[in-house]
Amino acid sequence: MTEKQYGGSTGRNSGESLIKKSIQNPAPAQKTKTSKLEKENLKSNQTDKEKILLAGKIAKQTREWIKPQIKKDTLLIEIAEKIENKIIELGGKPAFPVNLSINEIAAHYTPSYDDKTLAHDLLKVDFGVNVDGWCSDQAFSLDLENSGSQEASEDLKKSSEENKKLIQASKDALENAIELFSKKIEKKEILTTGEIGRKIQETIKSKGFLPVINLSGHQIEQYNLHAGLTIPNIDNKSTEIISPGSYAIEPFVTNGNGKIRDGKPSGIYMLTNSKTPRTPIAREVLNYISEEYQTLPFCSRWLVKKFNTKALFALKELETNGNIHQFSQLIEISNSKVSQTEHTIFIDENGEVVVTTE
Ligand code: CO
Repeated sequence: MTEKQYGGSTGRNSGESLIKKSIQNPAPAQKTKTSKLEKENLKSNQTDKEKILLAGKIAKQTREWIKPQIKKDTLLIEIAEKIENKIIELGGKPAFPVNLSINEIAAHYTPSYDDKTLAHDLLKVDFGVNVDGWCSDQAFSLDLENSGSQEASEDLKKSSEENKKLIQASKDALENAIELFSKKIEKKEILTTGEIGRKIQETIKSKGFLPVINLSGHQIEQYNLHAGLTIPNIDNKSTEIISPGSYAIEPFVTNGNGKIRDGKPSGIYMLTNSKTPRTPIAREVLNYISEEYQTLPFCSRWLVKKFNTKALFALKELETNGNIHQFSQLIEISNSKVSQTEHTIFIDENGEVVVTTE
């Protein structure tokens, strides 16, 4: 899941997540049932590093399992639920609602409970895994136009070729950024976030496209998906230095203007304040959110599953009352296509670099 920049400052400084300060010491996550696989994966006395690596491993296993199942005209809600259920089966929890954003929607589209949208064209599949609050974050893009089929029209073939080029550019940009990361950290050289952004930008420009300048990768801490440093997709001249920790790197590539704007409300939310709301149902939903998701993003679809459609009224009240923040869908300003590839990188105290989701 990406981070939007507001004119130089990060989303989290200007309201997208005021959260951490208002909610201290979140209660331990409640466990409902434990599957066999979950038991194998969740041994007791795991270190933070083991949890971070496990969150990455589950993300990788889930990606390899779902990828061949995603076809043109599959219901997005079916894809989202399969991914989220698989993560749980493997012993994790979704770190945030699965994002399935098509074409000019760069990010923050998750199906609503009654969503009828079908997968098509350029689809980005962005999901994360939470193991005791330690999260992995990864994304891949697919061209679902199948240019190889005999009956495809010329227009369709052209569009499919463009999708493939956009996807390749985001893959190459990520690969080059990871290479720079590994080389510099392992040699104990200083690496700044600006250098990573420059590498991403150069790679994308060399393919004839533009990076989305106001979307970024991010540092990840326990129960804080967008923590600490921002990993830009352009050379923003930042001299902030990469230190041990987890980082999501996520180049977004477009054949448009290279900027996103806010679109419709996404139905993806985050807890910002725990002051008591007026109605009993809103109180009940707020308690559930605090226990189940803590400071990680969640969506209306999950709450409708738990509380039925009355959850939608509760969410409205919680939003008005300032308990939760709703993310907007993020749309490329010229309505052009956007591709995205993302991995999470972990650097331990000894400077060992692991791409946890690869
Ligand atoms: Co991310």
